[in-house]
Amino acid sequence: MEDENPSLPVRDGSVPRHVAIIMDGNGRWAAERGLPRYAGHYEGMRSVREAVEGAIDAGLEILTLFAFSTENWARPEDEVLALMALLKVYSEKEREELRQKGVEVHVLGDLTRIDDSTREAVELMKSRTQGGSKLRMNLMVSYSGRSDIIEAARELARRVGRGDLDPEEIDAPAFAETLSTRGLPDPDLLIRTSGEFRISNFMLWELAYAEIHVTPVLWPDFTRDDLFQALREFQLRNRRFGRISFC
Ligand code: IPE
Ligand code: IPE
Ligand code: MG
Repeated sequence: MEDENPSLPVRDGSVPRHVAIIMDGNGRWAAERGLPRYAGHYEGMRSVREAVEGAIDAGLEILTLFAFSTENWARPEDEVLALMALLKVYSEKEREELRQKGVEVHVLGDLTRIDDSTREAVELMKSRTQGGSKLRMNLMVSYSGRSDIIEAARELARRVGRGDLDPEEIDAPAFAETLSTRGLPDPDLLIRTSGEFRISNFMLWELAYAEIHVTPVLWPDFTRDDLFQALREFQLRNRRFGRISFC
């Protein structure tokens, strides 16, 4: 979709409330340049900044970024260590700017697997940015869509076991309220970079009716204009939610 006025973030009309991004292609970006994989991860931090600023400019409410999956723990140890080190650097370096921009950071996933000093840096970024009202950013770290669903099922089963919940009361809203994303609207738009057409265990419940935008751009090359392009294309989609038309 060519844009007549690229300085305009999006067309008039509704912008999605919630955009989720699978930030993929860092390793390939580095390999193309003969660099080690971590160089791609490092460069990807700049793209996170672009996405956050673009999200604010476009007026999104929520930006959810898939930073590290539970499956990514199975990568070589040096890459895992580099990614955790980067998460710490990002949390320390960016937290003040995020606060000033009005970004409230949440980190969802199994943080028990993260080393203490990284977890402390992440917690500090979370607490310092509390109350930011321009954008909510969810960083998904050590996250697995299936694990989140399993954990919700366990929690509901525990409540039933205690006699606090009638199994008949378990419906879609009750289930959604038990996931780590409780309280958030589902993503309207999922963006995946690097041209891969898969969701890789990301937000399996929440993406039920998301529009999907796959771009060949590798994550370290992603700019706010790539975000705006995805938003403009989203605005032309006809979302039906299983009906014939939906207003
Ligand atoms: C995305 O880039 C970052 C993480 C998954 C942590 P990759 O590291 O998956 O890069 P590619 O897909 O190998 O190019
Ligand atoms: C998905 O990317 C996870 C993140 C972006 C954090 P992967 O590179 O891990 O996914 P696959 O292996 O290509 O499915
Ligand atoms: Mg990948």
